Parts: sequence; C-alpha cells; structure tokens
Amino acid sequence: MKAYSKPNIVKVGNPLYAKHGATGQVYPFVREEIEGIPVSKLVKKFGSPLFVFSETVMREKYRQTFQSIKARYPNVLNTGVYPVWSRFGFNLENGQAWAAVRRILKSRKLRVGGVHCHIGTFILDPTAYSKAARKLSEFIKNIENISGEKIQFLDLGGGFASLSHLKGIYQPPEVAVPSVEDYAEAIGKELSWLASRRPAPTLFMELGRHLVDEAGFLITQVVGDKLLPDGRRSYVIDAGVNLLYTSTWYKFRVDLDHEVKGLMTPSVLNGPLCMNIDTVDEAILLPRLKRHQNLILSPVGAYNVTQWMQFIQYRPAIVLITEKGKVEVLRRAERLEDLNQLESA
Ligand SMILES: Cc1ncc(COP(=O)(O)O)c(C=O)c1O
Repeated sequence: MKAYSKPNIVKVGNPLYAKHGATGQVYPFVREEIEGIPVSKLVKKFGSPLFVFSETVMREKYRQTFQSIKARYPNVLNTGVYPVWSRFGFNLENGQAWAAVRRILKSRKLRVGGVHCHIGTFILDPTAYSKAARKLSEFIKNIENISGEKIQFLDLGGGFASLSHLKGIYQPPEVAVPSVEDYAEAIGKELSWLASRRPAPTLFMELGRHLVDEAGFLITQVVGDKLLPDGRRSYVIDAGVNLLYTSTWYKFRVDLDHEVKGLMTPSVLNGPLCMNIDTVDEAILLPRLKRHQNLILSPVGAYNVTQWMQFIQYRPAIVLITEKGKVEVLRRAERLEDLNQLESA
C-alpha cells in the first residue's frame, strides 16, 4: 500500500507577481542602497527628503531605446487614444494640418522640412504609435507629391510609458507596460518605406518619462504616526504632494532602507502639509515603523521635480549618482533666504 505523503505547501508571496514569473518577495522591499550608496549615508549628508537620480539608469534607458528603434529605422535621433491631446499643433483629421501645409507651399520663403506629432503621455498601447506613424506616412506622401521635395525629418514626440503603477490599473507595471521593443516594432513596421530611402529622413523621438522616471528616487522619513478612526495607521512623512505632483495618478513603490519585522497592517502615507488631500498612499501594508525610518519612493524621476511646489515645506536637494558612483549635487535644498529675496521690502 502507498504511504500517505504530506503535501508540500510552498509560500509564494504575492500571487500576481508569482503568476507572471516575477519575484514572490513579500512587500515592502528593502533597498539599503541606491546605486551602491547607502540610503542612510545620503540622508546623513544631504538631509531628508532628498531626490536622488541615477545617471546609470538614465543612460541605460537611452541606450536600450535608441538600439530598439535603430534596429527598425536607420536614422533615429532621440531628443529628449484618449483623451486626445489636441491643445497644440494642427489637427490632421479636420484639415488644419493641410491648410498649414498649403500656406507654406504657397509662400516663397518657407519649405516643409518635416512633420511632428505628440500623441500623449504614458501610452500603454503601442498600436497608437502604429496609427500615428501610418497617418503621418500618408500625410508625408501627399506633401511630397505636391511639393516635389522629400522631407528631411519626422518626429513622433514622446509618450512611452515607464514602469510606474498607474492607479486604477490592476496589473503591476511589469505586466501592464509594453517593452521598448514593442513600441519600436509598432513604429518601425509603418516606417519601412522611409527607412529604405538613402538617406532616410531623420526620425526624432522626444521621450521624457520613459528615460528619466525610473532613474529617480525620493528618500523620505517618518515624522510621526497616529491611528485613524477607520483602523488604518497614518504615517506622516516629510515628503507629500508638494514634492510628488504625480501621486494623483501613480502609486509609487515604497521600500524601507532596512528590514522591519512584525505584523503588516493597513496604513496610509500622509505628507507634511496641512490638508487631508496630502496623501501619498492611501492603502499600503506596512510593519510598525518608528520615527526617522527611511522610506524610498520610486519611480519618481518624471514630472515631480519640475512640478513641485513650495508650500509649508522648503524644496529639498536633488543629487545625481554618476556612472562612476560619485554623488553630485544638482540643486541644493531651498532656504528661507531664497524665499525672502523674492519678496518686496
Ligand atoms: C511635444 C512633446 N514632446 C514630448 C513630450 C514628453 O512626453 P513623455 O514624457 O510622455 O515622453 C511632451 C510632454 O508633454 C510634449 O508635449
């Protein structure tokens, strides 16, 4: 008779991550260092909160993106749906773009050198780029037929998503966000007719978020805590919506700089401002944290330090960790004198 064997039960952690082949590690993660520099050392030297950018991540993103597009289109330069981004430029569908081209062709001083579009930001569907490239291709063919001249460039704007968790999207970014290869493929297959020209018109991409978001980290500290009436624990941290404009749309990854053992309880991360809306995360499982615990929020490299505000708190320093591991101050922390000097006497 076969002996009964006890089933082997293995803990896999977060089931969604595990299902998709990623790590089964339980949240929150520990990040003791950023690019080899201990978080505690950065805080000691530059204070908290502190924005930290990694040159290595930015350069690597640039290299990957450039290579992926270059593999499908020979001449590419990198500078930098719904709802439709219609605020700028000339609309193609309602004839505005054609009206602009006609006026240029009529003028003796102007020539159509190229075309540009920007379809939006955090575009999760690469086929949006196929459609844009297809429509621009038709437009270019018509312009070239009428003008008799070949265009020299086309620019597909920015908009590739970063590995950030858009609120309202169930899947983690590792699953929901397309790879740069997917975007490059979508664009490349529509532009093969231009790619075969010698020389091919230059393709510009103006990617912002995709290149810098994952390179940015925000170190922040727990300042205090209280139990909310609904049972969640509110941790007040020294960085709030004043520094994290994009927290309205994105749920950041939260790491601790060292392991904290204990029961994980539903918690809220509140910033240092005086309003209830200063909430960086309204539902996060955290072990019991003490004052001065360092938290590392990421990715925060896109559109935060450019849209931050000075209200109640000074704006913090921004440092860059170079590829050689040197920490350089890109911008020092704000001081009272900085604000006073703007005021009339
Ligand atoms: C014309 C243009 N190009 C590029 C970008 C960069 O967009 P993203 O950061 O989504 O790549 C923007 C941002 O709004 C833009 O307006």
